[in-house]
Amino acid sequence: MLIKPAISVKGSISLPGDKSISHRAAMIASIAEGDSLIENFSDGEDCASTLRCLRQLGLEIEQIGNKVTVHGVGKTGFGKPSAPLDCGNSGTTMRLLAGLLAGQKFDSVLTGDESLRERPMNRIIEPLRKMGANITSENGRAPLAIGAVDGLQAVEHESPVASAQVKSCILLAGMLAEGQTVVRESVTTRDHTERMLQGFGADIRSAVLNSKTITTISGTSTLTARDVRVPADISAAAFFLIGAACLPGSDLFISDVGINPTRRAILKLLDGCGVDIEITDDRRSLDEPYANVRVKGGELARSPILEGARVAEMIDEIPILAILGTQIEGGLEVRSAKELRVKETDRIAAIVENLRRMKADVEEFDDGFRVGGSQLFGAEIDSFGDHRIVMAFTIAGLLAKGETNINNAECADISFPRFFETLESVVQR
Ligand code: S3P
Repeated sequence: MLIKPAISVKGSISLPGDKSISHRAAMIASIAEGDSLIENFSDGEDCASTLRCLRQLGLEIEQIGNKVTVHGVGKTGFGKPSAPLDCGNSGTTMRLLAGLLAGQKFDSVLTGDESLRERPMNRIIEPLRKMGANITSENGRAPLAIGAVDGLQAVEHESPVASAQVKSCILLAGMLAEGQTVVRESVTTRDHTERMLQGFGADIRSAVLNSKTITTISGTSTLTARDVRVPADISAAAFFLIGAACLPGSDLFISDVGINPTRRAILKLLDGCGVDIEITDDRRSLDEPYANVRVKGGELARSPILEGARVAEMIDEIPILAILGTQIEGGLEVRSAKELRVKETDRIAAIVENLRRMKADVEEFDDGFRVGGSQLFGAEIDSFGDHRIVMAFTIAGLLAKGETNINNAECADISFPRFFETLESVVQR
């Protein structure tokens, strides 16, 4: 994909449904009793992987455009799949489905593409085994073979890694466990699973105690079908918000963006950098808040500091924040972000390598990187097969001198199939 520099971005766009919420809506509707209509379901490949796996488990799911109807079968209504369940590139599909399958009375196998088969799974295998699950894997990587069991026992789990996928896996397994399953987090991660389960009627509650978020779910919970409208994905919005913020004269309006408190840190960060950002018409769907966001381009005044809990709040935004950092005089430093090394690719290495190719001043750390305020120059960019690397460096290409070329740019389809068309509709050259 060839990217030419831009002067500004102007206009109004709508974005795909939130990827995290779409996965959860489909999975939770599957184990509910009755029919759920999900509107604005993400059209990315990751969420298609979730629907494909659910169909292999016997679910009847109809899809017309972005409207998905799931005919729920209840907690124990899945059928034994006749082949391994292919989660494609999607870590959320694999880790959350593992939670749902761990307590079933049939065998199943979860697998995925080359990238997903490299990602760490012990973080879910170990707690699921403590619950009585029968899971085997080589070296803690997929494929995961999940054996039939006669029920699970509730556990109390404190995850050593800040991960919503791990938390969600255990909470979903807790739906099939005897007793009250408890997950403790010292760094609060996205809470879409908790909100969605509660919306479908589960007996689940969260509280903060001694600065830990403690979530408890009862294995006796049953779920009832609900209709859900998925807000636009704030992590997809981030590319456009930062593109607009960095190009003076820009004026961009994005409708119905999810602003869940565990996801909206990026808006506060931009505000803190002096970006003119306006949030209006705050509404809710099944306890997920969303609003319209308008951003104008101008001077970027202050450098953000990113470490500790703030990293978990913006974990998927780090690639595009690296690009923002090049446009601020004082640059940007990201630390405590080792998790980035086990995403769809090693995102620290991918960011550093590509920023160097664009002649930015950048330093790599084991747990992050530092980028100085830099003029970017067009270059050959390696996507590393990672959708967020593609989208971040496309925005970098708009800000650079000269042309930028990105290989394998079609992997943007993992979360955002119309990314390039949407961008072209607002870019001014
Ligand atoms: C996600 C959680 C995050 C995030 C991923 C989606 C989710 O991963 O990076 O894109 O939907 O729960 P971790 O929970 O592994 O940090």
